[in-house]
Amino acid sequence: MIETLRWTAQGVEMIDQTRLPHVEEFVLCRNYKEVADAIFTMIIRGAPAIGVAAAMGVAIGAQQASDENFEAEFEEICATLAATRPTAVNLFWGIDRMKKLRQSLSGEPLSVVREKLVAEAQIVHAEDIAINKQIGAHGAPLVPDGKTVLTHCNAGALATAGYGTALGVIRAAVEAGKNIDVFADETRPFLQGSRLTVWELQKDGIDTTLITDNMAGHFLRSGRIGCVVVGADRIASNGDVANKIGTYGVAVLAKENGVPFYVAAPISTLDMNIASGEQIPIEERAASEVTAMFGHKVAPDGTKVKNPAFDMTPNRYVTGIITERGVAQAPYEVSLKRLVEGN
Ligand code: MRU
Repeated sequence: MIETLRWTAQGVEMIDQTRLPHVEEFVLCRNYKEVADAIFTMIIRGAPAIGVAAAMGVAIGAQQASDENFEAEFEEICATLAATRPTAVNLFWGIDRMKKLRQSLSGEPLSVVREKLVAEAQIVHAEDIAINKQIGAHGAPLVPDGKTVLTHCNAGALATAGYGTALGVIRAAVEAGKNIDVFADETRPFLQGSRLTVWELQKDGIDTTLITDNMAGHFLRSGRIGCVVVGADRIASNGDVANKIGTYGVAVLAKENGVPFYVAAPISTLDMNIASGEQIPIEERAASEVTAMFGHKVAPDGTKVKNPAFDMTPNRYVTGIITERGVAQAPYEVSLKRLVEGN
């Protein structure tokens, strides 16, 4: 299985996703600032993966914080990690989980607090893999046999602690014996599709074809795509979905062509505090990601650029939201609330 990140005695090791697919190298983050930097520079990316990395960042920070100034340093660690990327709610979920644990241990000696925070980060990691397997089990029956699955960005093992959400559904469908293949959108400008999704599906021997983003409509109209499955960075309580830029266009084209559009995500990606996707902050990334492709300039100097990293797909385009607790369908205000409350 592909290992995205792991806890070690020396720090947090993560596969460097800026160097894939040609260089498979693990980097070691020895303190919380290096973890925050790895999230910011997208050495590690994908909503659930950055949630796990943040939890590990808090744990490593707490280990190194001084006894004298522990509370203030703990706050600083959490604030630094939270300031890395704004859209994926899993980041804040992971940090909050660690903060709540710390609060619950307020009467304990710091040695115990540190030990329990480290253990918790490892639990968050293990749980994420188990959750993705459950998402896969709920999603696999929805994947039409004998057809192609279209996906956008990378919602795979690399975007999680392992197995993946959208790619977890694909993996589970293949494991269930379904005869499917995958079309992966390349996902400009950061190329998570071509660099990461194709890489990891190839490793698993899953038949995968790379297309550029502007080809998706053509293939959705052709009749060969059985369904679209993508991940999510934040889902509002009404089922609006923020995901990698370009997802909205794919969803509209899927609906236009009668192709089901599924979103696969853990409950930790739900933001029940917001009423609609309009309230989701959209990260704007550097212009250089658009004007150059990995060091090669593809636009004249001085070009004006917009580079939103995510877009918002209104709930009316979403056929179902596949979670570890089951599949939510419209009306999402009701179905997501039920899933969150566990009934
Ligand atoms: O900018 P990224 O690469 O972190 O964006 C990732 C995505 O948009 C994924 O689709 C999303 O986080 C779901 S990952 C299971």
